[in-house]
Amino acid sequence: MKTTLSSAAPAELATEALVAVVLDYCDSSQTAKSKSSQEKQQLKVETSDAAVQAAAADLLSSGEVTCKPFEINLLHKPAQLKAKRLLLVSGGVAKKFTSYDLRRVAGAAARALKARGVRSFAFVAPSGIGGEEAVKAIVEGTCVGNFDPDYYKSDRKDQKIEAVTVIASGDKSSLQKALDEAQIIGESQNFTRDLVNEPSNRMTPTMLGERAKTMAQEVGLKCEVYGADKIKELKMGAFWSVAQGSDEPPALIVMKYEPAGAPEKPVLGLVGKGITFDTGGISIKPADGMEKMKYDMAGGATMIGAMRAIAMLKPKVKVTAIICATENMPSGKAQKPGDVQIAMSGKSIEIINTDAEGRLVLADGLCYARQLGCTHLVDAATLTGAVVVALGYANAGVFANDDAMYERLEKAQAKAGEKMWRLPLDDEYKENIRSNIADMVNSGGRWGGAINAAMFLKEFAEDTPWIHLDIAGTAWMEEQKPWIAKGPSGIALRSLVEFVKSFAS
Ligand code: BES
Ligand code: MN
Ligand code: ZN
Repeated sequence: MKTTLSSAAPAELATEALVAVVLDYCDSSQTAKSKSSQEKQQLKVETSDAAVQAAAADLLSSGEVTCKPFEINLLHKPAQLKAKRLLLVSGGVAKKFTSYDLRRVAGAAARALKARGVRSFAFVAPSGIGGEEAVKAIVEGTCVGNFDPDYYKSDRKDQKIEAVTVIASGDKSSLQKALDEAQIIGESQNFTRDLVNEPSNRMTPTMLGERAKTMAQEVGLKCEVYGADKIKELKMGAFWSVAQGSDEPPALIVMKYEPAGAPEKPVLGLVGKGITFDTGGISIKPADGMEKMKYDMAGGATMIGAMRAIAMLKPKVKVTAIICATENMPSGKAQKPGDVQIAMSGKSIEIINTDAEGRLVLADGLCYARQLGCTHLVDAATLTGAVVVALGYANAGVFANDDAMYERLEKAQAKAGEKMWRLPLDDEYKENIRSNIADMVNSGGRWGGAINAAMFLKEFAEDTPWIHLDIAGTAWMEEQKPWIAKGPSGIALRSLVEFVKSFAS
């Protein structure tokens, strides 16, 4: 997608569609009951351009616009404008409207236009949000809206938005920088979504490794993909215990970003769960919904996509990504409940449930990251159904063994417009993963399941500052929304990129 910055008067811009945001400046002190909504509404188009205001005036006063978030109103041949169409996208109540909403509103506009066969548009940045922040939200939101997962439909229309112009005022060079960075981040998010979207027969661990390698070559990253021999040589007994049951070879993907001029420390370690299909293994999952387990490599794909963005944005900080990719299959070679495995760190694990495989591969991924010299760790994984019970589909789960790390992530996540919620890691929960025969069990049972899984990982992060993101509920959109298609979401990538950037400034 081509992106352009413009400081033109919106009315003077020749474009397929001029997009502007409508907000409601109603007096929110009134209760819903006392307000006979249409009269008390004060709708305004977010632009200082009088010609655009005039073109929208009749529609806004008609009472047809409810200003419900994401509502779309399209005018053809708007009077006095050079644009062919004027698309008004509603953003709700002005007082509550932030860049988080703007990102989604931009996605909704992109999806509405692309469904109508429009390939390019110009978006007027609303004045209430700072120029750079607005540009970032508009471009990232447009990228998110531009993705559709219907690859294998023979009648795929592929109506992508090809070009977007953002009309904003402010310092030209900082706006341009915001625009370029947002495009890199948005496209990297879609790169991740592409990987996650592929079914397991088209995204084996080997193929995931190949995709990572090809991308690494394009952006100038080091990338090594190791197989079973290396996994055994490193004594990754936990990773191998999952991989041993599959005919498909596992892949240990290691990517390094080491820019000239970066300090020796910190070295950030991004560790991703790359289960290309999770049947549950011998503790097999029910058939209902099992097809969704192709997205169990979303954490790994997020780290690969984040590395793409990092390599292109070039922050002065070292980053290493480790993706532990394998299938989790039942077979005559598969591990069984009751088996005891020795992880790379030397800790012993009693396997209670072979379906708790993500923490096993991550245990060795985290240990290996520490061995490679990482001073700070972040992992991302579709780790537990329990995090979906706890937080639903709106927030990813965050766990941290270090408050400073958490605060840094919290800032990054706000900048990126993503939602995450911290869950506890108190010592009390450690009982849940106690084993009679080994150092720990791999499944702490049902209650606090997301926490038990995180407590298990904590044993392998040891004293290294570490964050764990459980994205099981957020990596896949169960339904389409106005701003995003049903399917892979690419959640956490933008936060991770902001997080990494924060170490460089
Ligand atoms: N990949 C699943 C978790 C998952 C569930 C991801 C739903 C996306 C949507 C994970 O490997 C798993 O099976 N976890 C088990 C752990 C249990 C056996 C302790 C779970 O959550 O049921
Ligand atoms: Mn599982
Ligand atoms: Zn899994």
